[in-house]
Amino acid sequence: MKHLLSLKDLSQSQLLALLELAQKIKANPAEYRHALDGKNVVMLFEKPSLRTRVSFDIGINKLGGHCVYMDQQNGALGKRESVADFAGNISQWADAIVARTFSHLTIDALANTASVPVINALSDLYHPCQALADLLTLKEVLGDLSHLKLAYMGDGNNVTHSLMLGVALLGAQMTVICPEGNFPDGFVVTQAQEVAAAHGGSLLLTPDVSALENVDAVYTDTWISMGDDTELSDIEAKFAQYQVNQALMEQYKVKYFMHCLPAHRGVEVTDEVMDGETSLVLQQAQNRMHAQNAVLVTLLS
Ligand code: CP
Ligand code: NVA
Repeated sequence: MKHLLSLKDLSQSQLLALLELAQKIKANPAEYRHALDGKNVVMLFEKPSLRTRVSFDIGINKLGGHCVYMDQQNGALGKRESVADFAGNISQWADAIVARTFSHLTIDALANTASVPVINALSDLYHPCQALADLLTLKEVLGDLSHLKLAYMGDGNNVTHSLMLGVALLGAQMTVICPEGNFPDGFVVTQAQEVAAAHGGSLLLTPDVSALENVDAVYTDTWISMGDDTELSDIEAKFAQYQVNQALMEQYKVKYFMHCLPAHRGVEVTDEVMDGETSLVLQQAQNRMHAQNAVLVTLLS
């Protein structure tokens, strides 16, 4: 493992090893206190962030490393100098690059030219750190993930893509429920179906909400991702039946609710579900740090 750009680059054993290491680091933080001693990580963010930025910063500190945050929000990477020159320079000082970019091509360009590991902290296509934290959370509440039945409902997006690939790698079952026109990207669906087939998993795509029957958890995300200029008023009616609310949780007896956050309360999910007993959202947020620390320890030691 040289970089973490997409979960599709991992083998099943690499994924399982990352989840196990994350659990070890979470259970025994003192053992990893010096894991990144003397290591410096540059974090570049072209888009806003709460969880990713803070969990990487504090997580790196807990491992004994140092992080430098670069706010690119006032100018995309590659404007003042090329992405390749940027990556080449940062590689002279830093031991790893964490990047959140609008285009996944920028992440690929960083990885192609940096001589140090690059970690995707969200692009338009993938959010692998999020999916790792989510699978860690599901492992904590369900135990063995090979029998996992996860449903994602809402807009097919970067988070959906990474979840599909992660669940497929585990050989588990994933159902993606979206309104017509908002399914995940076809080429990622094909990738995930191939990975699922190779590992005995399945991936079902449907506009039918009743596919929530018998799933362990329902996951949702914003209906409008960063960088998408769609107006909520233009899509609200189409998405209304895909809101996760208490009636739906009860009708389909769904055990757990998940969201990567930030949530739009009253839009894709109601307060009752967000704050209810089935909600795993804060456990997911906490696990961002442990999952990312497992990635950093794996890539840098
Ligand atoms: N879930 C997530 O990535 O949150 P942020 O956008 O706040 O980092
Ligand atoms: N799909 C969302 C995830 C935010 C963490 C976005 O890209 O804006």
